[in-house]
Formats: sequence, structure tokens, C-alpha cells
Amino acid sequence: MLLPVLTAYEKEHIAERQPLPQRYLRLSDEEMDVRIAAAKAALGRRLVILGHHYQRDEVIKFADYTGDSFKLARQASTHPDADFIVFCGVHFMAESADVLSADHQRVILPDLAAGCSMADMADLEQLEMCWNDLDQMGISRIVPVTYINSAAAVKAFCGEHGGVVCTSTNAAATLRWAWERGDHVLFLPDQHLGRNTAFKMGVPLDRMVVWDPNEICGGVDADSVERARMILWKGHCSVHARFTVKQIDSIRREHPGVRVIVHPEVSWEVAQAADDAGSTEYIIKQVTDSPAGSMWAVGTEIHLVNRLARQMQPGRTVLSLDQFGCLCSTMFRVSPNHLLWVLEGLVDGVVNNRIVVPDDRKHWTKVALDRMLTIQ
Ligand code: 13P
Ligand code: SF4
Repeated sequence: MLLPVLTAYEKEHIAERQPLPQRYLRLSDEEMDVRIAAAKAALGRRLVILGHHYQRDEVIKFADYTGDSFKLARQASTHPDADFIVFCGVHFMAESADVLSADHQRVILPDLAAGCSMADMADLEQLEMCWNDLDQMGISRIVPVTYINSAAAVKAFCGEHGGVVCTSTNAAATLRWAWERGDHVLFLPDQHLGRNTAFKMGVPLDRMVVWDPNEICGGVDADSVERARMILWKGHCSVHARFTVKQIDSIRREHPGVRVIVHPEVSWEVAQAADDAGSTEYIIKQVTDSPAGSMWAVGTEIHLVNRLARQMQPGRTVLSLDQFGCLCSTMFRVSPNHLLWVLEGLVDGVVNNRIVVPDDRKHWTKVALDRMLTIQ
């Protein structure tokens, strides 16, 4: 029998993951809808539900606020009245919410197995080793910038070393901020967001190097690092890595006049071939604000694309750039069954699946996240 392959995140958290109780398994959609709405009503202002744009329809329809990572991080810091923040998204988002919310608030992730494979591509030990290697190479004036898709420990390291967290919304402004403070940016864990953003700002590809955390000294020599403005961590999103230039060429052939918009986690080649790129919130805004009759091919997670396609009807046409659709399987783990379970638990005074960033990490993580919220 083939055993499932666990991500690093799942291996670390498997022990604390509480299984969904049997009684929450085989419920009809109608029953779940009624019970979720009832639990929400019973909790009233004690509860805020945040939903990321990649969530399924049957979950996101219960969100009080929807958004991209930046918008949701801000929401997490602006509802001090709520005792509970239920985060329908993935683990790094819930961790950031825990750090940005007030001490009395509790943040809940409906399924603890909802991680992010990209965030798993950088851990604190590797980052410390990289920092040390760069120092040994004689590279100084480096500002560490971590994408919000990273563990709290990585964010804390950046905060403590004069760096910051960014999202796809404020990546360009963050690079400007960082270059005012140093000569080199160490950007992790998504090499694509780092490269696409810096290139758009005029940094040529030959002033960027890729740091492979699995190679000795990142697999790069000191001279190329010294020349580099961007030191890009070798990480990526496996969902967005599926989009190809071939898909863009073929959709343009099939639908002349189509505009192609992608998330900046796609490869550089795909970003160059597309008409536009931006965060999930940006994509939604561009499509929504486009003139009637527009046609779009969207390169991001399929739940957002399908929802946008429905919402834009009639008037605008929205297609997925990947004809087979691109699913983020960890976002998909948050089911209405899980949402119902955690909400009914709260009504009964039981907090399931709470996300807590340890106190010794909280301070510097907060420094890095607070800096993020000031940069736009
Ligand atoms: P946004 O911040 O653009 O919503 O992106 C989050 C994410 O995980 C994209 O894969
Ligand atoms: Fe992580 Fe990619 Fe899923 Fe976003 S789409 S949460 S980067 S695995």
C-alpha cells in the first residue's frame, strides 16, 4: 500500500492535529449551512471569520471579510472586540493573525493540516546557515525580506535582522524600503515573486542570484553574490509553477483579444508573456473594473477563477489559463465540516485547532509584520 507523502509542516504538526469527529462526517450541505449560520449567530460579535480568496464557495460564503494575505492580515489587527478569529486560509496566515491580534484573542485554523508547501521550503535552521555563509563570504548590508508565505520563525529572524515581511500586494514598495537600508536583498522563500518584482522595477536578471539552501554556500560564488541586488531563495509555489508560456500562447490563439492576468508567483517567463500580474485582490479588481465584453484568462488558483467567472456573468468572460485548473490542495482542506466543528465547539466553550505563535517568537515576528503593514 502506498503511504501518503507528508509535507514538512504536516510532519511537525501531525501529533497535535485533532481529527474531525465522526459526527461531522456525512452531513448534508443543507444541514451544514443551517448549523454554521446558527453557530455564527450564537457567537455574534465574539466571532470574526476571515476567508482567503482561494477558499471553496461553501466556506467563503460564511466569511465576514475576504481578501488577499495583506488585506486579511490588516483585518486580523482591527477587530479587538472579537474573542475568536476563525481563519479560513492556511497556516502562515493564521500565525500572522495570531501575532497581529490582541493578546486576549484566539485564532483558529479549521483544519491544522492546511499548510503551504512554499512556506515549507524555508526553515529557520537553513536561514541561519545562509546568513552565516553570506557573512563568511564577506557580504554585508543585506536586508532579509520574507514573503508572508513563511513560518513565524523565519519572519522573526527577518524582524530581528532589520528586515521585513511582504505580500504580493506590497512587494515592490518593500523592495524600495529594503534598498534604502542595504545593498542586497535576501528574498525568501519564493524566488519567482522576488525575481518578477525586482525585474519590473528595473533590476536586470544578471544582478540576481539563486540561493539553493540544499547546496554548500547556496551553490553560488562570493563574486556573483557581491554583484547581486537580489539573493533569491530557491523556493516556489507548486500550484503556480504549473502555468506555462505554451498555455498563454494557445489561449491567445484560441481567443484573440483575451487579456492574460497572473499571480506573481508564476515563473518569470510566464509573467513576461502575460499582460498583467498581481495579488489575488488585484486580479479581482482588474477583472471587475474592466469594460463589459472583456475576456480574461486568469493564472491562479481555480476556486478564485471559477468564482470570478460566475460573478462576472453576464458581461465579462473569465477563463482559467490552465484548462485542467490549478487547485491548492492545502487551501482545499478547510471544508464546511471543519468550519462547523470549530464553530460549534466555540459555542460549547471548546477551542479546537487554535494557532499559537510561541511567546519567544512573537516579538520579532510582530516587528516584521508591523513593518509590513506600514509599507504600501
Ligand atoms: P495573495 O496574498 O495574493 O492572496 O496570495 C496568497 C497566496 O498564497 C498565493 O498563492
Ligand atoms: Fe501556498 Fe501556493 Fe497554496 Fe498559495 S497557492 S497557499 S503559495 S501552496
